[in-house]
Amino acid sequence: MSAAKLKAPRGTHDVLGEQAAARARVESAARALLEGAGYARIETPTFEATELFARGVGASTDIVQKEMYTFTDGGGRSLTLRPEGTAPVCRAYVEHGMHKLRAPVKLWYLSSFYRYERAQAGRQRQFWQVGAEALGSEEPAVDAESIVLLCALLDELDVREVRLRLSSLGGPDARAAYRERLQAHLRAHEAALAPEVRERIDLNPLRAFDSEHDGTRAVMATAPRLLDHLSTDDQSHFAEVRALLDEAGVAYAIDPTLVRGLDYYTRTVFELTSDALGAQSGVGGGGRYDGLVAQLGGPSTPGMGWAMGIERALLAGDARAEASPAIDLFVAVSDGAARPAFKLLHEARTAGLAAQMELAGRSLKNQLAHAERLGARYVAVVGAGGDGASGAGGAGTQLKDVQAHTQEEISADAVVHAVLRGRGAL
Ligand code: HAM
Repeated sequence: MSAAKLKAPRGTHDVLGEQAAARARVESAARALLEGAGYARIETPTFEATELFARGVGASTDIVQKEMYTFTDGGGRSLTLRPEGTAPVCRAYVEHGMHKLRAPVKLWYLSSFYRYERAQAGRQRQFWQVGAEALGSEEPAVDAESIVLLCALLDELDVREVRLRLSSLGGPDARAAYRERLQAHLRAHEAALAPEVRERIDLNPLRAFDSEHDGTRAVMATAPRLLDHLSTDDQSHFAEVRALLDEAGVAYAIDPTLVRGLDYYTRTVFELTSDALGAQSGVGGGGRYDGLVAQLGGPSTPGMGWAMGIERALLAGDARAEASPAIDLFVAVSDGAARPAFKLLHEARTAGLAAQMELAGRSLKNQLAHAERLGARYVAVVGAGGDGASGAGGAGTQLKDVQAHTQEEISADAVVHAVLRGRGAL
């Protein structure tokens, strides 16, 4: 009886072949763009204290209420697989005293995240994000630069039919006053609302803007808008962000109903969608979070950032693969000459060549076909006498220059030198 096959858990997937190469391209594009703009890479742990997300992301959010992978470790601590990256970056900022560094402190990451969501196309339970966070400045130019960088990344990845929606949530005071106004509106129309919206009037009234329920949508069409109730400072901050985006020639639509699924946002919020995606059209999003660092026990520090979903960017983009590195030399094995072949492989790599050797016992003919598929520039066929020149010991080493269609009989010791010379390295 054969053992039952196991599959990757629902909402997760293996990344192989072309997909892995396409991701490599996302990573190089993100690195070039973000490091060029002064962002340094940060890697935080896969799991954090559960409290970080309860405090940082917000107890009333869907993420904290239903989507976290939380477990108790052997020491009785409650830990959670990170559902997002901003709270961990702020935790690290505080823990390492990064407020002492020159502002803004710019950090970027490429990491996996975990949310127990209904899995469907473009929505996984383990997914990957590229994220960028700039801490320590409330200048509108930080907001605009951050948004422009995400637009540039999507552009670089050829993500199609991208739209930018933009809004401002104002500061905590304007938001609290607005919340009460919105709650009053929702209570006045309670009967028309979807049950889940009704249940959350107290906890999270803003989420009513996200509802697909017809009755709720009708009520929300006449709801007060936060954008109409911003303080003068918040209004001018938002006006400057828009003016800077105009300067950069970035098109956007103001969407006063834009609600993000995380509680830490203040002032600017934005989302980028791609019409090339289905229901899960959000390819990236973010905003300002001026209260988060203080909320996590750090000094009052403004912050601004975004995250882009890598799977979604690849679905909506031209998932062109990173070109695989060229192979300088393929060492083919003839007459069972595995040892001299292995020695040559080692020498070639020590000399800095990209080299591979036959490892699957193919016939010589199939080895040559394999080397061609790999795109090897040179092929060395090592025979039983391959550790010396041809002669009494048996067949020697043949070196084929694939590009020039030439072939020479050569001592195995001379192969690396010949390949280096042919490559123009000598
Ligand atoms: P978010 O909007 O929750 O924001 O996620 C950002 C992006 O991650 C989404 O636009 C989407 O492309 C991708 N994403 C989210 N959930 C999934 C999923 N289940 N499957 C596949 N892709 C997904 C944040 O995470 C914030 N931390 C962004 C931020 C950074 N705000 C400020 N700084």
